[in-house]
Parts: sequence; structure tokens; C-alpha cells
Amino acid sequence: MAEAGERAEWVKRPAAAIEGTNCTLGDYQSLYARSVEDTDAFWAGQAERLDWFAQPTKIANWSFDPVAIKWFEDGALNICHNAVDRHVDAGHGDRLALIFESDAPDGGVRRITYAELQAEIIRMANTLKAMGVAKGDRVTIYMPMVPEGAYAMLACARIGAIHSVIFGGFSPEAIAGRVEDCESDWIVTADEGLRGGKHIPLKANVDAALEKVTVKAVLVLRHTGGDVSMTEGRDHWYHELSADGPAECPCEPMNAEDPLFILYTSGSTGKPKGVLHTTGGYAVWTETTFRYIFDYREGEVFWCTADIGWVTGHSYIVYGPLLNGATAVMFEGVPTYPDHDRFWAICEKHKVNIFYTAPTAIRALMREGDSHVLKHDLSALRLLGSVGEPINPEAWRWYHETVGKGERPVIDTWWQTETGGCMITTLPGAHDMKPGSAGRPFFGVCPQLVDNEGEVLDGATSGNLCITRSWPGQARTVYGDHERFVQTYFSTYKGKYFTGDGCRRDEDGYYWITGRVDDVINVSGHRMGTAEVESALVLHPEVSEAAVVGYPHDIKGQGIYCYVTLNAGVEESEELTAELRAHVRKEIGPIATPDHLHFTPALPKTRSGKIMRRILRKIAENEFGSLGDTSTLADPGVVSALIDGRRNR
Ligand code: WTA
Repeated sequence: MAEAGERAEWVKRPAAAIEGTNCTLGDYQSLYARSVEDTDAFWAGQAERLDWFAQPTKIANWSFDPVAIKWFEDGALNICHNAVDRHVDAGHGDRLALIFESDAPDGGVRRITYAELQAEIIRMANTLKAMGVAKGDRVTIYMPMVPEGAYAMLACARIGAIHSVIFGGFSPEAIAGRVEDCESDWIVTADEGLRGGKHIPLKANVDAALEKVTVKAVLVLRHTGGDVSMTEGRDHWYHELSADGPAECPCEPMNAEDPLFILYTSGSTGKPKGVLHTTGGYAVWTETTFRYIFDYREGEVFWCTADIGWVTGHSYIVYGPLLNGATAVMFEGVPTYPDHDRFWAICEKHKVNIFYTAPTAIRALMREGDSHVLKHDLSALRLLGSVGEPINPEAWRWYHETVGKGERPVIDTWWQTETGGCMITTLPGAHDMKPGSAGRPFFGVCPQLVDNEGEVLDGATSGNLCITRSWPGQARTVYGDHERFVQTYFSTYKGKYFTGDGCRRDEDGYYWITGRVDDVINVSGHRMGTAEVESALVLHPEVSEAAVVGYPHDIKGQGIYCYVTLNAGVEESEELTAELRAHVRKEIGPIATPDHLHFTPALPKTRSGKIMRRILRKIAENEFGSLGDTSTLADPGVVSALIDGRRNR
């Protein structure tokens, strides 16, 4: 807690965070200065912790105008070797790499050592090879949260294939779109997933997707034993195909700039983009951020509650922890099953030292009261992390005080799919914290705030968050569409990477992310393009037009508010509301389910026909007094009708 005489917003970093830390305040200051003043030497030094087949001599080589980004370009390495084999070779084969906790508390725990992990990856890699997968091929992974999902990612990396993981909550339509976009010929999946006791029909979803696109082969893990149909010649059971593979599979030497993975993410316009990360820079970035930000110490148990289908799972369940030789918990289920104490029960059971989750989960669990936390022994916890959306100070304090007994630092890490790893955060041993502020830039990160015209704003101020210099973990392109990459991130403010986030910098140089300033919304920490939900809605035969905005939601952070205009003669009804919700779930997936449907005969438009989203946002937020200038509207009467409609709900 803040001490008397201090500004109330500060929370001092506890002594326990400073003792034995990898990075004190003095270290941070000198390392940060070096990272921006002597960039090449700094990153060459960080890269030395990895094994390289060819040591890089060219370190940073990038330009934001024109956009071309390379790091370690003459280096060669394999990230799977670095994440797994390197530790086995160093005599740490018996160390635990993964602790798998299944959906049901009595569903069994699997403890996988680094040596076992190596053997499992080799088995998976040889199976992929036997299916015809070669270096550079795209492999789609649509898996539950089970160790085999991580094996599949690392097996791809081992043989030089590019993985494209799709979150298990996405629909067949979403799978088909992503498979088609990156021309992936292979899918790795499971019969079913399990979440909160519910069976998720993964294989059936893949089958439905494959009515729209074709692939050469599907590899199926038997997980729940649920009934699935197997198409002869196309579908293969993993346990059968992997039965008598060789016990060896060399790690393919990859150039640092060879692609490692594609991950689809939403933007303001169009279909999700396949953000591409390459091997060397991503390896160095995830290794370094994990080491310093989570202040990782040998032997500790780290748990990131994300799903491997999101970037957080890629970087901080799989690559970051394993590159550091850490022990990572992987949890199949949800925080509320079988009860609201599940997270804390797992922390106690596996003596978790470092815990990393999302504000939406914290808010949901906070609402259930302290008793769920207090009944568990959380004394092993040393560090708490937050990611995915702004954390409100109230949730921050509950996390720090109730979960962390007021003694564990909370690190609020701001980053994005495109940044590969954490960018702005306090470091536990180096910085005092301010609840609600992400904190300070990590090594090599140069944030800048600009106004809407691109003028640079100095000092304590608010603006649009840009990053002015490249960092090793930066995405290199959008798969197959470099122009879209340039347009999306580097054209709003020429020569700068624009994050899409609004941000305030205070007088202490701390950054406060205020949320997206584009047409992207953040629902329970999941990024969603309003345009995607709109296109799903207008696919319905009764819908003529739709506009989607975010609005404040107690638990989810933002909810999905849909304005819908029906075709002439179609009446709104409860059945239609339910049908439209189901329709969006089917098109995108359950995470996109509309929270609010607002039927309206018309949408507010300018005379040139542009929908005025600013007004729609304000109405959804119940802020009728601050609608701003409505004089450019073609029909101002639309607005009063919308306000009446909102009030009546
Ligand atoms: C938001 C997730 C505030 C932000 C790693 C960003 C945050 C988007 C934070 C990226 C945070 C992420 N504080 N906002 N600590 N972390 N965001 O690509 O709007 O799924 O642009 O990456 O989440 O979401 P993405």
C-alpha cells in the first residue's frame, strides 16, 4: 500500500521482489540506456544466451519507411533446439518442462521432463514428416490446451514448418478462412476438447471447415475418446501414425529471418490478418522478456493461464518459459470449474511461483469473494502478472492485496500479437508500481505519443501510442500481403509503428493504456474487429445493415453492442435475436457472441453515407449528453430514435 506522504497512486515494490532480482532499478537504467544507444551490442549480448548454428554478426537492420525489418539476419538457429534440446544437452533432461493440469481436478496431472518433451516432439516431428510436411510448409494447429498442442508447435519449429495455431473456440468458417489464407495443407487437431466439463467438437469443426477448403491430411489426437468420423486417406490417428517412427529427428538449421509462425489477429478492417513472426528475433525477444519481466529464477514454477491459440500462449506458455529452461503449467480448463477457486487450487497444488493472467479473469473471480482465495495456501506465489487489456485499479488492488497478500508485485504487461512479447511493464525488482499503469518501456522499446495529425507530444500528456524503433520480436509482415502490413501499421503516422492504442504518459514517465482508438474492441482480453462481427451479421438473410461497437462491461472489459437494421417487412422478435446471436457464434465462434442487439430502422449516417460510429459508441455507452457534432448527419432524427431505443432497455 502507498505510505503516508506519498502520492496515493504509488505502490512500493516489496522488499521480497528486490532480493535476488535479475534486474534492479540501476540495472534497468543502464540496460535500457545501452539498448537504445548501443542497440547492436546490446542485442548481440542478449542473443548469446541462445545456441546458434551460425552466430549472427549483423544485428539490427530495419526501416519503417519503406517497411523492411530484419534482426540477426546472418544468424542460423533452431528455436526448438534452444527451447528443448539445449537444456537436455546441458544435463537438465530430468527437469520438469510442463506440468499439465486437466479440465477436471481429478482428471490426472501429467509431468513432462525436458527429456520427455524432446522425445515427444521428435515423435510428432517425424509423424508430420511422414505426412509430407517439409520446411516452409504451413501447418494449422487446432488443438485443445493439452501438451500435444505445444508438441505440435515445437515439432513444426524443429523441422522448419510454419505453424498457424487457431484458438479452439473458433468456428468452422473461421478455420476455413485461415487455412485458405495461408494455403495450409495440413491440420493437427484432436477428437474433442474439454472446457469446464463441456466437450468441444474440434474434429467435427475441422470436418465442417473441410467442406469449404481442402487439405492433404489431418492428424487427429485421441484425447477424450469421443466419437468422430475419419475420412479414409485424409484423416490419421496420431497414435497410429506415430507408432514406429525413428527416435531421432535433427533440428533444421533456420536462418534467423525464416518464418516461425503465423497467428491470425483482428484489425479495424477486413478479415483477420496472418501476422508473421520469424525465428531469431522472436527467440531472442521471448527469451529476454521472460527472463527479465518475470524475473525468472531457476527451479520456479510459472503459470500463464492463456490459451496457446493466442499470442500470450505462444510467447509465455511455450517459447519464453522453455527457452529459459523453466517449468510451465499448462491448464486445460476454465477458472470457474468446478468452482471459483480453481486457479488458486492449482496454484497451491503445483506450488506456482509466478502467475500470469488477464484482468477479465481477475474481475470475474473478485466478484465471487475472497473466501475462494483465502482457503488456499498461496505462499509459493512470488509474482503476479496481468495482460490483455487495461486493468482497473480496483481489480489491481484486489489482485495485489487478496491474492498477493500485499507483498507480491503485480506486473501489468502491455503488448500485442504484432509485438511478439511484452513491451511496456514495470520490472518487479526495479520499479514501484501504479495500479492501472502498465509502467515503463522494456529494453529497446521507444514509445512515442502523437496527436491525430501525427505531431509528437512531449511530457505528461495523452495521445496515440506509436513505437519509433524496431525491436527483435516485431512482426515482419502480414502473411502474403506485405502492403496490408504497411498500410495497417506504418501509414497512419509515416515512419512509425502505430499500435492502435490510446495512451497517457504521466509526469513520472509511466504509461497508461486507455484502450483501442480504432475499430477494434477487446472482449475479455480477446481482440475483435467490429467489422468482422458486422460482416457476420449481414450474412444473415433478414439483416440489411449492421454496425458494431464496444461498450463498457463489468467483467469482460468491453461487451459487443450491435445495431441491426432488418430488411423491410421483417419484425424484430426474441426468436430473431436468439437466431442472430447463434448466427454470429456459428460464423466466428462463441467469443464473438453479441451482448446486446439493438434493432433500429436506420443508422446515423453522414450525407455521403458514412456510418457515424462515434455517435453509436456514445449511445451504447449511455452517454447521451456528449454526442458531439451531429450537424453533418443526413437525418438527425435517427439519433433521437436510437437514444429512445437505448433508454428503453
Ligand atoms: C490490449 C495480447 C492495456 C491493447 C497480448 C492491445 C492491453 C491489445 C494490455 C493486443 C495491457 C494488451 N494494458 N491494454 N497490459 N495488454 N492490451 O494482440 O489494446 O491479443 O493493443 O495481444 O490488447 O491484443 P493481442
